[in-house]
Amino acid sequence: MPTFLNIKSKINEFNSKIEVPGDKSLSIRWLLFASLASGKSEANNLLLSEDVLATVGGLKKLGIKIKLIKNRCEVIGKGLNGYKFKPNLVLDAKNSGTFGRLILGLLVNTPYEIKLIGDNSLSKRDFKRISDPLKKFGVNIKLYKNKSLPLIIKGSEKLNSIKYLENRGSAQCKSAVMLAALKTPGTTIIKAKKSRNHTELICKYLKLPVKIKNNKKFDLISVNKAKKILPFNYKIPSDISSSAFFLVLTALNKNSKLIIKNVNINPSRVGVVTILKKMGVKINFLNKKKYKGELIADIYVESAKKIKPINCPANLNSGAIDEFLLIFLVAARANGVSTFKSLEELNQKESPRLIWGSRILNSMGIKNTLKAGSIKIYGNPNLNVDNKITIKNYLKDHRVFMASVIAALTFGGDWKIYDKDSIKTSFPSFLKTINFLKNDK
Ligand code: S3P
Repeated sequence: MPTFLNIKSKINEFNSKIEVPGDKSLSIRWLLFASLASGKSEANNLLLSEDVLATVGGLKKLGIKIKLIKNRCEVIGKGLNGYKFKPNLVLDAKNSGTFGRLILGLLVNTPYEIKLIGDNSLSKRDFKRISDPLKKFGVNIKLYKNKSLPLIIKGSEKLNSIKYLENRGSAQCKSAVMLAALKTPGTTIIKAKKSRNHTELICKYLKLPVKIKNNKKFDLISVNKAKKILPFNYKIPSDISSSAFFLVLTALNKNSKLIIKNVNINPSRVGVVTILKKMGVKINFLNKKKYKGELIADIYVESAKKIKPINCPANLNSGAIDEFLLIFLVAARANGVSTFKSLEELNQKESPRLIWGSRILNSMGIKNTLKAGSIKIYGNPNLNVDNKITIKNYLKDHRVFMASVIAALTFGGDWKIYDKDSIKTSFPSFLKTINFLKNDK
């Protein structure tokens, strides 16, 4: 089986309806909270991807019983302090930043050392951003070269609450501290730059001792020690980040229309929709409903006749943080120059994505300039790519692979895109859905 995908022609027009798999952030969070509950919780439509399976594997090693039947999942939670394991435990977060970081918040009171490892990409990422606040709680953490994996964590019996400023807009940092605070006596106060708020919404739904005050740029979150978590069932809605590949495929294709069913449109996640709309793409939310604190809708999108350049407001960054590779493709089609700034965090992802965004545009012949955390993209509405392009050595970053596929299908050219298997990280059925739309008439 070749590990690369060869694409030599654009996709035909389509008019279709699809459903994408369950949300990754919510699947991982549901598993973590269910493992802390006292008793049996069940979920439907759990995302069956490698990041989520790494979470299942890690929790099993911590003594939690988990049954998976297709995408239905049963977790027998053992209570807030119920993890049981032998000394010298090694947890492997594989490619998952969310599991690798959030689980540390739940290991703050473990009696023995645990080693946390990850794959090549995760081992290059910053874990000091998590160990710094957790050390203040009283936890012992030793990082490789003072900043990354593998790390060793040993909990403390005497945790103390902290004051924490999260100023990167990282939901993983905010959530790890919130989870640690749920196990810590006293009140932990977090001042957090806006980022996805699934952890807060689950805490609210579970009636945990968490208070939130939303200000314009920052949220003030206070968390007290929890007494008990009740088991809870959940139907995971579809992932907006997976939907985004198809929003952009449709917007950049000719004469096409698409409905994506049952997507989580949490306001802290829909930055991609806001940005695409500002650029002239028609997108509507249909059948909006609330589900256990989250907002869900079907999303309608159609081909864009004309794309406007954007000077993207930085306050939209965190809500679209996983979608910028796609947004850059839309900017490549705009009739003018687009600017995106304060995107340093993009280079902290599974691969340095700001750099990869620029490389993909360069390979397509789109002029762009990178300066620190900013990129300027000189759009060309008549761009037709006809050269050979190879995308390789991107640390198997699933989003680089999938965004390159969307570029190949909408701009043309002869593409060889390596590491097809990377889609298993977040969206294993991605190519099936592409093939479904290719055959839609
Ligand atoms: C995630 C938060 C974001 C995002 C990641 C998932 C989460 O990362 O990029 O894919 O589920 O909390 P940061 O917390 O680093 O911003």
